[in-house]
Amino acid sequence: MAHRTLTGSMTSILRKPGFWLILAVMVLITVPHYSSSLQHPGFISQLMADLNITRHTFERILYLAPIIWAGFLFGWWGAFITSLAAIACMVPHVVIYSTPPWQSAFEIGAVVIIGCVISVGFVSLRRERDYHKRLEVIQQELKTSEERYRSLFENAIDAIWMHDLEGNFITANKASEKMIGCSREELYRKNVKEFLSQESLDLAHRIRNRLLNDEAVEQPYEQRFSRRDGSVVYMQLATSIVWDKGKPAGFQHIARDITEQKMMNDNLRFYLKQATRAQEEERKRISHELHDDTIQALVVLSRQLDALSTSTDGVSDDMKRHLEELWQQTDSILQGIRRLSQDLRPAAIDRLGLLPAVQWLASEVTKHSNIATKVNIVGEEHRLPEEVAIALFRIIQEALRNIWRHSGATKAEITFEFTANKTKITINDNGKGFVLAGKVGELAKQGKLGLVGMQERVQLIGGTISVESEPDKGTTIIVEAPG
Ligand SMILES: Nc1ncnc2c1ncn2[C@@H]1O[C@H](COP(=O)(O)OP(=O)(O)OP(=O)(O)O)[C@@H](O)[C@H]1O
Ligand SMILES: [Mg+2]
Repeated sequence: MAHRTLTGSMTSILRKPGFWLILAVMVLITVPHYSSSLQHPGFISQLMADLNITRHTFERILYLAPIIWAGFLFGWWGAFITSLAAIACMVPHVVIYSTPPWQSAFEIGAVVIIGCVISVGFVSLRRERDYHKRLEVIQQELKTSEERYRSLFENAIDAIWMHDLEGNFITANKASEKMIGCSREELYRKNVKEFLSQESLDLAHRIRNRLLNDEAVEQPYEQRFSRRDGSVVYMQLATSIVWDKGKPAGFQHIARDITEQKMMNDNLRFYLKQATRAQEEERKRISHELHDDTIQALVVLSRQLDALSTSTDGVSDDMKRHLEELWQQTDSILQGIRRLSQDLRPAAIDRLGLLPAVQWLASEVTKHSNIATKVNIVGEEHRLPEEVAIALFRIIQEALRNIWRHSGATKAEITFEFTANKTKITINDNGKGFVLAGKVGELAKQGKLGLVGMQERVQLIGGTISVESEPDKGTTIIVEAPG
């Protein structure tokens, strides 16, 4: 490394024309040094006499000039190379002119040492000047970037504020005033806890502890602030630690107001809940009507046709055959309507609850397809609220429909796990699986509403759903619902 630096420095100096000019000057100095016939101008001879020095000594002193010059222009290495060149020029002179060796060695040494010392002075002076220049540039850059950061901070659409570890506000931008509903002067006298309900405070503590313990925090997260005028603002927050000399000194928050969006979502959810409820009511009504009126009427009709086709009084064989065909058609219509009625609203769900309804659904799938179904129950079954039971039934219904239509599976299993206040349902198949590109929500754009519908229904009852699928490894859907 050192070798590379040395060669590098030397070659870079040797490439400079200025250096060759210095060497040329050195040659000019060397010419009179070796030719005693060349006389110095009178004023120089006078100067030598005044200083009481010999011509040799004077000429050696002249070598100081190129060494210092090179030191000034090229630093250390410049002085060093020029010193070597100067020694090379001076030493033969000692031999040729047999000047006293000790005096010559002393003079040559002095010239080189003085030259180098002055060069070192130049080098450090230059370094200091460069250092100050760099410092000025860095300070200027720092100032510019601070101004830029300030303007970004001040004009950000998102609210940004910082508070210390106790929660006292340290700094806040303009958007924070609007979002928190407090001027900055007031804010700086307040503690963030004054704006948080107990629930929000607990969340803030959890986030804070996780950050301080260097644990992962899902960001951004949702937080609720209560303004002084009593209004509530929902924010999407991203929080980070503010460090001071390697120690946590506070927290910085970047917040986006999502109150309107949240209200819209709540309204939408409410509307969806109402619409789903109305849809279920309507299905129930149609199913009951089919069951109580249409099916009953068809049963009566079927019985009459059956009676007619088997009666012996005055009915020809042809008529009998015709009546029997009509009876069979009526029976198959009856079966279809029964299925439709069950599909719309399985009677079991209202009379016996979710489990028997799912067992009936599974047996229907097995009956009409090549898929062997199994329903497992873990824990003590309990009756779920009607809304939850219906939602879960519809989710299982869609999952089984998907298995039937898309998976090519030979087995499907539905497992219920009942705990005190939670019901977990796992539906899995041994089919071909699939890759879910992007989010489930994106399927809706392609007109695929099954998985999206499952997600919506689960959210309406305050549950969660996860879909795990891998090509050739089957699909598993896990639903967790309260109750
Ligand atoms: N059990 C499964 N096995 C294999 N592929 C599945 C399974 N369930 C869903 N899929 C895949 O996921 C896609 C989305 O399913 P989704 O139920 O949302 O829509 P769909 O069944 O195609 O249409 P829709 O349910 O609206 O009639 C399906 O098209 C299918 O490719
Ligand atoms: Mg589907």
